[in-house]
Amino acid sequence: VITKIKARQILDSRGIPTVEVDLFTHKGMFRASVPSGDPSGMYEALELRDGDKGTYLGNSVNRAVKNINERISEALVGMDPILQSQIDQAMIDLDKTEKKGELGANAILAVSIAACKAGAAEKEVPLYKHIADLAGKTNLTLPVPAFTVISGGKHAGNNLAIQDIMILPIGASSFGEALQMGSETYHHLKAVIAEKYGAHGCNVGEDGVTFGSIREGLDLVKEAINRTGYNEKIKIAIDVAATDFCKGEEFLPPNKYPIVSIEDPFDKEDWEHTKSTARVTLQVVGDDLLMSNPKRIERAILDSTCNALLLKINQIGTVTEAIEVVKLANDVPWGVVISHRSGETEDSFIADLSVGLASGQIKAGAPCRGERLAKYNQLLHIEEELGDHAIYAGEDYRQCL
Ligand code: PGA
Ligand code: ZN
Repeated sequence: VITKIKARQILDSRGIPTVEVDLFTHKGMFRASVPSGDPSGMYEALELRDGDKGTYLGNSVNRAVKNINERISEALVGMDPILQSQIDQAMIDLDKTEKKGELGANAILAVSIAACKAGAAEKEVPLYKHIADLAGKTNLTLPVPAFTVISGGKHAGNNLAIQDIMILPIGASSFGEALQMGSETYHHLKAVIAEKYGAHGCNVGEDGVTFGSIREGLDLVKEAINRTGYNEKIKIAIDVAATDFCKGEEFLPPNKYPIVSIEDPFDKEDWEHTKSTARVTLQVVGDDLLMSNPKRIERAILDSTCNALLLKINQIGTVTEAIEVVKLANDVPWGVVISHRSGETEDSFIADLSVGLASGQIKAGAPCRGERLAKYNQLLHIEEELGDHAIYAGEDYRQCL
């Protein structure tokens, strides 16, 4: 049973406060922390911040920490950590608000993840296996990583309007090989940029290298892929994050580049014009459009406004609800991308989540920086542990095809 829960404030990868929790059972201590992104709108779960301008510019999370140490702890101590949905429901009942604004989605998610880790230990199974059991899944799969190699939009101080250019090593034979392909491409890209624009052209943004215009960015990435020699084994994905800009750059002809996936090609409230857009062979990912919100997902399914779910667990707030929305997407069937946030921690939970839910895809940033590598390195551990049973999603990354 859960014997003690102790939370604290730590800093995320942007140096902004976030919540970390230690949850104790007789099996030991289980630690979890939560990421933070640029809020995409009023439909996502509420991240509770103190708002005291004199402390961390208003970003401290002492109230969320206090809510864990007092109210959540009181409600959960004595519960069996295996019972994930009951633990999550107990917190939802305690909170009573639709967006988890009373206790804070950051407080609730930290405890939900820590409980999930404790539940796995209780059963003496790996975390990804426990998650698969909770979701009723049997097909553990190593996801195709979507490595952000060029950052733009709100994530970089450059002129690139779109948010990310990513590479998907779908032709790799294992996750380990995919990571190698990603890393090699990334380093070739740095060299290509340095040759063309000098060393100063190559800065690391929140996720990856930062750079100029869409077409230039895609040309650079194509050149870097060519230098690796992997060519058609590596595909390109972009996150347009259209809501965040209105610069009106001419839309790309996808045939000039090996683009297989486009995230948020239209404004997130543009339901009218986006109807039926997803009836194309290209993967159209809903991130800002869906905000991991079940009601918005249902509407998008009905209107065919996208054909893949980007899941950010802190937009929904509990492990149980995250599993539920993935099931909604699986039923269509849609592709599923388990995603990090721009502000991350070294917690690697989403790596296990992506394997346990057999999402087929994970978006965890560039193959550089510790908090991004924490996820990719954990996938290496899982692949090693599964040994001969490890299956890399590869060409089947969308699952629905
Ligand atoms: P965010 O960015 O974490 O700041 O929301 C990630 C994305 O848009 O994919
Ligand atoms: Zn996005």
